[in-house]
Amino acid sequence: MAPKIATFFLRFLLLCSAGVWAQAYDPSKQLSVGIILFPGFQPLDVIGPLDIIMMLSASHNISLAMIGKEEGIVPGPSPPRRNEPPTAYPVRGPSIVATHSFVDAPKLDILLAPGGMGLRVLDENKDTWIQDFIASRYDELQYLVSVCTGAASLAQSGVLKGRRATTNKASWAWATQFGEGVNWVPTARWTEDGKVWTSSGVSAGIDMTYALFKRLMGAEAANRIMNAIEYTPHLNEHWDPFSLVHKVPGADASQQLGECVGPAGFEFKCS
Ligand SMILES: *[C@@H]1O[C@H](CO)[C@@H](O)[C@H](O)[C@H]1NC(C)=O
Repeated sequence: MAPKIATFFLRFLLLCSAGVWAQAYDPSKQLSVGIILFPGFQPLDVIGPLDIIMMLSASHNISLAMIGKEEGIVPGPSPPRRNEPPTAYPVRGPSIVATHSFVDAPKLDILLAPGGMGLRVLDENKDTWIQDFIASRYDELQYLVSVCTGAASLAQSGVLKGRRATTNKASWAWATQFGEGVNWVPTARWTEDGKVWTSSGVSAGIDMTYALFKRLMGAEAANRIMNAIEYTPHLNEHWDPFSLVHKVPGADASQQLGECVGPAGFEFKCS
């Protein structure tokens, strides 16, 4: 009996502390969000989460810093790879404007590291500004989040030591070579380990961002955004058919490839 009661109280305490986190957003204090940018960023890694953040900022006190190596235009297409043949055709992509350099970026509550081909170029050129920036800001952050191969930047910064993390399953071998003692999770749409959240490839960042802001700002606000952008989020962080598609070592072969999704906040059935 005693262990049962103890378990009950532990659960109760965990729920309460989760509740405290859920109310962590305080309108009288601005939530300071930063997004890292580099040439060759994956557009949706940035724009997917940003669409949710932009819409939430209409009703919540949020500031946004787009953080590049330098302030100004950050090209969408990646610079050429050092050790790879060029692509058949030049890659086209949208440029984006960094409002801050990493040197003058404001104090941050949430820092998002996106993925993209440009990270490989930075690595080939031994340019460590992103990982150094993450390491220097880690302690002040409420949440450090990555999308896709952005997890490689987290690993390189050293903050994933002893933590669970995931990344794009199509780039698994490349991204997971970085970091020491990282508990890479082969089958996960996203992972949460303390203040570090990481998502799988590109579109998974939208599901993770929804889960994170639902935690921070409540289901009503987060669901309203999902339904406004007409996106049906995956709610199950363990759903990850791309771990099988891309034959990730250790992937959960027993999982269903398909998963039922529907509008956020509604009951639905899939047949
Ligand atoms: C938003 O946060 C800033 C900074 O903490 C604060 O000065 C301002 O009053 C807040 N705005 C509102 C509408 O609460």
